[in-house]
Amino acid sequence: MELNKDLLNLNGKAAIVTGGAKGIGSAIAYRLAEAGASVMVADLDEEAASKCAQDLTSKGWKAISLKVDVSVESDIDNMINTTKDHFGSVDILVNNAGIYPSKLIKDMSLDDFEKVIHTNLRSVFLSIKKASEVMKTQGGGKIINVTSIDAIHPSMAGLAHYDSSKHGEWGLTKNAALEYAEDKIWINAIAPGGIATPGVAAMSQGAGAEQMAEQTKLFMDRIPMHRMGDADEIAKVALFLASNMSSYMTGEQIVVDGGVLLR
Ligand SMILES: NC(=O)c1ccc[n+]([C@@H]2O[C@H](COP(=O)([O-])OP(=O)(O)OC[C@H]3O[C@@H](n4cnc5c(N)ncnc54)[C@H](O)[C@@H]3O)[C@@H](O)[C@H]2O)c1
Repeated sequence: MELNKDLLNLNGKAAIVTGGAKGIGSAIAYRLAEAGASVMVADLDEEAASKCAQDLTSKGWKAISLKVDVSVESDIDNMINTTKDHFGSVDILVNNAGIYPSKLIKDMSLDDFEKVIHTNLRSVFLSIKKASEVMKTQGGGKIINVTSIDAIHPSMAGLAHYDSSKHGEWGLTKNAALEYAEDKIWINAIAPGGIATPGVAAMSQGAGAEQMAEQTKLFMDRIPMHRMGDADEIAKVALFLASNMSSYMTGEQIVVDGGVLLR
């Protein structure tokens, strides 16, 4: 039987974290690097990604960064090839990059809808398809998709495109888990509730801020733990799913929401 400390040891593993520069992704990159993984911080924000990778290497951990737009297929190819070339393998893929602009359907254009679907869902299909080719040749791997409680139940009006993408991502997680189990690629999801991140902070500024502040208050009132979650509270669950702690799990979604879905 493995010792506790060995179960969480990711030495020799290479991990990709999309949207790894900020918020939940950055917290996940930190936890995986601390556990010994070599981490590719892949993000649209090149400067923030580079800073995140530097923070990790300054602690003596292994990390690099790359500018990646997950809605662009060639960027995903480049992300996977660069990780493999640099670290020698792709063992863990965290599909975290996502956007959640608020807009009611009556005001939503087809472009608005497609942008969210391409960023949050099509990207996950492409990443799973391409990373699994590499993982297969290595004898297995772990894929973690950051979905949302909105993959299960809508949190507020104005997120129809987002909820479509997240319900889709959860369905994709389950079917991909079924398909790739025989290749020893375990695919699971984490569904966060309200987590304090730069993306959430940005929602309560700019156009529609007043309406958003009202929505946020209503949402806060529904949290049995009476507080927003911290990004590291998602990262700890990602470490569990990336490690041997979750050796008999695939096609599962772990809800981390302070109890919101109990209401
Ligand atoms: N924060 C929450 O309350 C919450 C709740 C449920 C689910 N989630 C999910 O967690 C994930 C991360 O959310 P967050 O709150 O940390 O977001 P955030 O906006 O704080 O950070 C997202 C990161 O992704 C990057 N990014 C955005 N579009 C990208 C693209 N096309 N390609 C590559 N990188 C891109 C951004 O530059 C940023 O660094 C998302 O998938 C989101 O849907 C968040």
